[in-house]
Amino acid sequence: MPSADGEQDAPRHVPVMLREVLEYLAPGDGEVHVDATFGAGGYARAILQAADVRLFGIDRDPTAIAGGKALAARYSGRLVLLHGRFSEMEALLAQHGVGAVDGVVMDLGVSSMQLDEAERGFSFMHDGPLDMRMGTEGISAAEVVNTFREEDIADILKTYGEERRARPIARAIVRRRKERPFMTTFDLVEVVEQVLGRPRAGKKHPATRTFQALRIFVNRELEEVARGLLAAERLLKPGGRLVVVSFHSLEDRIVKQFFKTRTGRGEAQSRRLPHEPEPPAPSFEDLAPGGVAPSDEEVASNPRARSARLRAGRRTSAPAMMQLPALPRVRVGMGAGDAAAAARSATARCRRGDGRSSGRRRRR
Ligand SMILES: C[S@@+](CC[C@H](N)C(=O)[O-])C[C@H]1O[C@@H](n2cnc3c(N)ncnc32)[C@H](O)[C@@H]1O
Repeated sequence: MPSADGEQDAPRHVPVMLREVLEYLAPGDGEVHVDATFGAGGYARAILQAADVRLFGIDRDPTAIAGGKALAARYSGRLVLLHGRFSEMEALLAQHGVGAVDGVVMDLGVSSMQLDEAERGFSFMHDGPLDMRMGTEGISAAEVVNTFREEDIADILKTYGEERRARPIARAIVRRRKERPFMTTFDLVEVVEQVLGRPRAGKKHPATRTFQALRIFVNRELEEVARGLLAAERLLKPGGRLVVVSFHSLEDRIVKQFFKTRTGRGEAQSRRLPHEPEPPAPSFEDLAPGGVAPSDEEVASNPRARSARLRAGRRTSAPAMMQLPALPRVRVGMGAGDAAAAARSATARCRRGDGRSSGRRRRR
């Protein structure tokens, strides 16, 4: 059904904590804002309706940018869509002569459209090529499981998925790829289930952590978050607002740590010895100490909101601090060169679809 914007209400993403985002972002007439994760445009539409702002919508996924065309036409002159990563937001805005903004919002992770699209390979619920790239660059999840060393796969699953059984899963992955390479999401689900058992009603799917880990690794998500926060800090005018919604503890820890150091509560600031130099002046004032969780009503109507956490700050006039928040990292050494080449051709086969079927079968 077409919406008021004249767009098709196709499979949409329900914006999480929208009321709270608007409250903390507080868009005002004549201001310039950045929606750094445009997605289905849920936040963007609401921001444009809330005030007469100029809004830049960024997304690394070209399909999200293409999907926002109708909204950009409806708000022609007020909404500009930019394809790219939010870590590059300064360069993206500079192309439009913008060097300072009044608000930045970041809604981290993947959209419902990305999860529901089997061909993107993000979901253990749909059978599709094992890809998981949000954008067009980088290596696919298939390349990781088909070529990386067992210890590196285990490290990725442990660090980015907080998967306790990372080692046995990595071992099973390497054993299985000797028989035939991983092509589809269900190939991987099968192996994880061999190690962790079948899904049980009311419990998290056993492949949840493995999929999260690979997605974070493939898209360098945590580094993006850290660099995106730094870029926002540099772009925001004094008085400008930064609002970040995260969906798992790894992301939230980075955001929390960022606001802690920027609001003068970091370790360097609180443990300074008398002979040490003055710590930098806070570059943000914390607008939501401790973070904000979604209401019970929102969680009941949109279970995806369950793990969301919003943090927000108001920029002071102090200079940006520049140092990156601490990041969990994996050190990856590639296997033999021919293994990488084999993986690339496996990925190409996945994309062509001549592996096992990649239809829209749903897994329970
Ligand atoms: C949770 S969705 C955003 C949904 C949006 N707030 C809405 O209401 O429709 C996250 C979006 O951010 C995009 N994204 C994730 N990481 C990104 C990055 N580093 N740079 C730009 N976009 C990113 C994803 O492609 C996805 O479309």
